[in-house]
Amino acid sequence: MPDGENRPALTGINDRALREDESGAMRKFIVIVIASMSLEAAAAGGPPDAQRQAELTRLVREDCGSCHGMRLTGGLGSALTVDALRDKPAEALVATVMYGRPGTAMPPWRTMLSEADVRWIVAQLAAGFPETKR
Ligand code: HEC
Repeated sequence: MPDGENRPALTGINDRALREDESGAMRKFIVIVIASMSLEAAAAGGPPDAQRQAELTRLVREDCGSCHGMRLTGGLGSALTVDALRDKPAEALVATVMYGRPGTAMPPWRTMLSEADVRWIVAQLAAGFPETKR
C-alpha cells in the first residue's frame, strides 16, 4: 500500500485538533492516547495472530533449526522435542530463549521476539512443534 493512502486521515485529525483548540491541548491528548495504546499493546503482547504464528513457525524451523537440528532433535543445540522438554518448566525455557545462555552458543532473541512470541513457541515445542505450511 503506498504510504500516502494513510496520510489524509491523519492530517485531518491534526487539522481539526488545531482548529478546535489553538493551545494544542487536543493534539497532545491524541498523541498521549496513541502512545498509551501502543504501549498497552506491547506490554499485553497478546498471543500472536495466525500470520505471526506462520512467521514464528518458519523462524524456529529455519533459524533455531540451524543449531537445534532440522527436526529439532538436536545438533549444536540440545533437542527441543516433546520428550526432551517434558520436565523443564516453561518459565525457564522462555527465559533461555529471551536471554540466551551466556557461555554457550544459545543467543538471546528478545530483540527479535516478544515475550508473547516466545511463550507461544515454547508452548508449541512442549506440545510438538508444527510443520511449516507451504
Ligand atoms: C547458534 C546456535 C543456536 C541457535 C540459533 C538457537 N539455539 Fe537454542 N540453544 C543452543 C545451545 C548450544 C543450547 C544449549 C545451551 C546449554 O548448553 O545449556 C540451546 C538451548 C536452548 C533451549 C534450552 C533447552 C533445554 O533443554 O533447556 C531452548 C528452549 C532453546 N535453545 C530454544 C531455541 C529457540 C526457540 C531458538 C530460535 C528462536 C534457538 N534456541 C536458537 C544453540 C542455539
